[in-house]
Amino acid sequence: MTTSTDTRVAIVTGGSRGIGRESAERLAADGFAIVINYAGNKTEADAAVEAITKNGGQAVAAQADVADEVAMATVFDLAEQTFGGVDVVVHAAGIMHLAPLVEQDLADFDRMVRTNLRGTYVVDQQAGRRLRTGGAIINFSTSVVGLKLPTYTAYNATKGAVEAITGILAKELGHRDITVNAVAPGPTATALFLDGKDDDLIARMAAQNPRGRLGSPADISEVVSFLAGPGRWVNGQVIRVNGGII
Ligand SMILES: NC(=O)c1ccc[n+]([C@@H]2O[C@H](COP(=O)([O-])OP(=O)(O)OC[C@H]3O[C@@H](n4cnc5c(N)ncnc54)[C@H](OP(=O)(O)O)[C@@H]3O)[C@@H](O)[C@H]2O)c1
Repeated sequence: MTTSTDTRVAIVTGGSRGIGRESAERLAADGFAIVINYAGNKTEADAAVEAITKNGGQAVAAQADVADEVAMATVFDLAEQTFGGVDVVVHAAGIMHLAPLVEQDLADFDRMVRTNLRGTYVVDQQAGRRLRTGGAIINFSTSVVGLKLPTYTAYNATKGAVEAITGILAKELGHRDITVNAVAPGPTATALFLDGKDDDLIARMAAQNPRGRLGSPADISEVVSFLAGPGRWVNGQVIRVNGGII
């Protein structure tokens, strides 16, 4: 695959499904060449690549656990070898296991810490080392960090850590003209949010915002596109994208 030297390149973790998938397709439409990272769902990752290439874009898929620093380094290697470098990392990979603190399965707690916290650290470390000047790192927190909902202690703890990483890394990378922000969606219609919830709970959570509906992945990718492209003066921020939940 050949890429013109002025093509910008984005790695999207969790690009096989949900918000990451939509962000990958949106950035491809914006002109980025895309590396779709995924955990295990090759069928969906290949479908994401096909959706992009059928619309005239460029994309490849790369399996890697975001918490595995050796595997993630190979994803960046692939981006550099295939497209010539990396400008933007959209780090959308994440998992959620909800339970009251006293009932939380600590194996699920450990899985969330590994994927959401260690994964962000590993991905941001690679991004910080490898992004070209003028780049952008877009992490994912969640609006429920502010809502303090019961059952979210462990998940929120990992996302609070993402916000801490984001603010400090922005200061560490500013001299290279690399922005670092976190997008914090409200309830968004993806498997991560919908799985395990009954219709009543989904309707109540959709009613939390003044618009009275769930967010869509496209609502979120709009902001990702801005931060990856023209939003150069937004830096070190956590941007809640939730239809108006306070
Ligand atoms: N949906 C919401 O309501 C909501 C709200 C606030 C924040 N968020 C955050 O937004 C981000 C995207 O969530 P989503 O709703 O789009 O989730 P999703 O639909 O469940 O998709 C999750 C994606 O992450 C990938 N993934 C999971 N673990 C991984 C790992 N260890 N290494 C590499 N990739 C991994 C999955 O890959 P496979 O397909 O291979 O499994 C999949 O592509 C997450 O960080 C989430 O915490 C979501």
